[in-house]
Amino acid sequence: MTAERPEASRPTTAGVVRVEEHSGPRSALRALFELAEDSPAALDAYIDSGRVLVATEGGRVVGQLQLTDADEPATAEIKNMAVAPSHQGRGIGRALVGAAIDVARSEGRTALVVATAAADTGNLRFYQRAGFRMRSIERDAFTAATGYPPGLEIDGIELRDRVWLDMHVDGPSTATKEAPT
Ligand SMILES: CC(C)(COP(=O)(O)OP(=O)(O)OC[C@H]1O[C@@H](n2cnc3c(N)ncnc32)[C@H](O)[C@@H]1OP(=O)(O)O)[C@@H](O)C(=O)NCCC(=O)NCCS
Repeated sequence: MTAERPEASRPTTAGVVRVEEHSGPRSALRALFELAEDSPAALDAYIDSGRVLVATEGGRVVGQLQLTDADEPATAEIKNMAVAPSHQGRGIGRALVGAAIDVARSEGRTALVVATAAADTGNLRFYQRAGFRMRSIERDAFTAATGYPPGLEIDGIELRDRVWLDMHVDGPSTATKEAPT
């Protein structure tokens, strides 16, 4: 598989955000990873896997997306992604997903999958707006046995079930390679 360097400047409503592969220690990004992961044990198990794309603005990391192998070799998984609360809602998450699609294509993948909590209706909206479709539901995925504290709720909905979504990514790249002048 050939791997493209995912460096690109992507216009967002926050301005032009640079998306590139993170090469430093993952521990520097842990606070961002924790925004998307309630289980420290689960995070410890996967934080160092795969590739991580970071969105930077003025040299500061404002978002990250971790792309890992999935069960099928032709499929990549968005394992964790988050945008700093101060920068959410400005198109940076969408820019990161766009960069992940380009990386998956450059690796010869044909599909991208992502999982999120059924309780998190905001994330379900975000991923569907980004082009993902629902694939399956894994009941009782978030339990004390997997490191999720009991009683967690999102918008009044108990954190219990995991929803898998997917997207076909084969075809020509549509990446924005240059910053607008
Ligand atoms: C989910 C997340 C990564 C989205 O990043 P973002 O930069 O805020 O998203 P964008 O600004 O690119 O939003 C793209 C679209 O999704 C929508 N969207 C994003 N987050 C949303 C939310 N929580 N609720 C409803 N809609 C949301 C935006 O309104 C926008 O919709 P539009 O196309 O109608 O304008 C970010 O909110 C986040 O870091 N959340 C906390 C961590 C987390 O839950 N990560 C996902 C784990 S599976």
